[in-house]
Amino acid sequence: MRTQVVILGAGPAGLLLSHLLHKRGIASVILERRSPDYVLGRIRAGVLEHGTVELLDEVGVGARLHAEGVVHSAVEFGLDGHRHRIELEALVGRTVTVYGQTEVTRDLMDAGSRLGLPAIYEANVLALEHVDSDQPVVRYAKDGTVVAIHCDFIAGCDGYHGVSRPAIPSAKLTVYERSYPFGWLGLLADVPPASDALYYASSDRGFALCSMRSRSRSRYYLQCSLDERVDAWPDARFWDELERRVGETVAAHLVRGPALEKSIAPLRSFVAEPLRFGRLFLAGDAAHIVPPTGAKGLNLAASDVYYLSEALAGYYRSRTERELDAYSERALRRVWASVRFSWWMTSQLHRFPDDSEFSRRIQRAELDYLFRSPHAQRVLAENYVGLPI
Ligand code: FAD
Ligand code: PHB
Repeated sequence: MRTQVVILGAGPAGLLLSHLLHKRGIASVILERRSPDYVLGRIRAGVLEHGTVELLDEVGVGARLHAEGVVHSAVEFGLDGHRHRIELEALVGRTVTVYGQTEVTRDLMDAGSRLGLPAIYEANVLALEHVDSDQPVVRYAKDGTVVAIHCDFIAGCDGYHGVSRPAIPSAKLTVYERSYPFGWLGLLADVPPASDALYYASSDRGFALCSMRSRSRSRYYLQCSLDERVDAWPDARFWDELERRVGETVAAHLVRGPALEKSIAPLRSFVAEPLRFGRLFLAGDAAHIVPPTGAKGLNLAASDVYYLSEALAGYYRSRTERELDAYSERALRRVWASVRFSWWMTSQLHRFPDDSEFSRRIQRAELDYLFRSPHAQRVLAENYVGLPI
């Protein structure tokens, strides 16, 4: 088998890349380890930046997103139960759209099938060969048969636990990393959201987030310790703790319901540089992870693959590697801006186990400044809606 680009992974990065390449006349094949149902069953991100929505429109998959997604022109923050609203649209002229990653994935998969974009599921990638030459080969196993695909390029969109990043010799990769001493316990329920805006709450009991998937489906998160177990959190305990952290005015509007899903995710910042080794390019979570506090993970996957599709199109147009050479630096500039913002949000809103009273005062002063200063609010709004791609 032969194609121009083999894409590893059918998450948002890999699926969107296959569409962007198709629009630019470049052939690709997606290899995904899991089944489509498994990929669609993962509950992850919920907030799309303006630029991500534009990219989804560009590849023609925006119809359901515009019909069912909820446009948010503001976001709320809480400190010890006091609510403050930040008017994103009034401050920076942009909004965000709440539309689950599951739905984005489904729309990209459905449109890909309609267009006949090749995607092979339950394909177990065994090896990436000759990556440092101009004739790389990807070998995978499916249904007991081993298949080799010859290609011009490999796009590593296979997430944090994929095979692409480990295929790069460690001497050729620099890793920057920070682990946070807590995780998020998430709960999804078919109940109306407690607030019309997303609500990020800092409290002495720890951070809480009130988010949503639609007007009838809510997503809530609680900061938890790293050794916490989901079965130690029956629904009633989750709702009781959420009420305590969000303060009275939001708690008054909380509607309880049975959990459709409950899971714990650790928080970490991670960047591997550069995003290229020979003919292998990394994009999305394969190259970097941000803590979810800034809602940036999915959006960075989208901007990475936009830059990569442009760089590949430049190669096929000019047969020079000038744009391919620039990919890593171009993508990493935006990645680091989001790593910084996500780190800042995480640092300001969570309780750290070794917090001194001094650091808690600094956090309070920072949030108080944000609530009072239109300048600080504009900085937050500009980052939250997403820096230009
Ligand atoms: P992924 O979505 O991870 O996709 C990678 C794909 O590659 C997967 O389908 C995987 O099965 C496949 N794969 C792996 N190995 C192989 C292989 N060897 N061969 C072939 N395919 C392979 N972001 C937010 O903004 N808000 C959130 O609330 C949030 N919650 C998250 C919760 C969890 C548990 C995780 C893991 C991430 C969360 N994120 C969140 C981050 C966001 O979901 C990711 O940034 C986004 O999914 C990145 O997309 P991606 O396509 O790069 O990677
Ligand atoms: C979500 O809805 O899952 C979500 C929203 C905002 C975040 C993180 C997660 O910052």
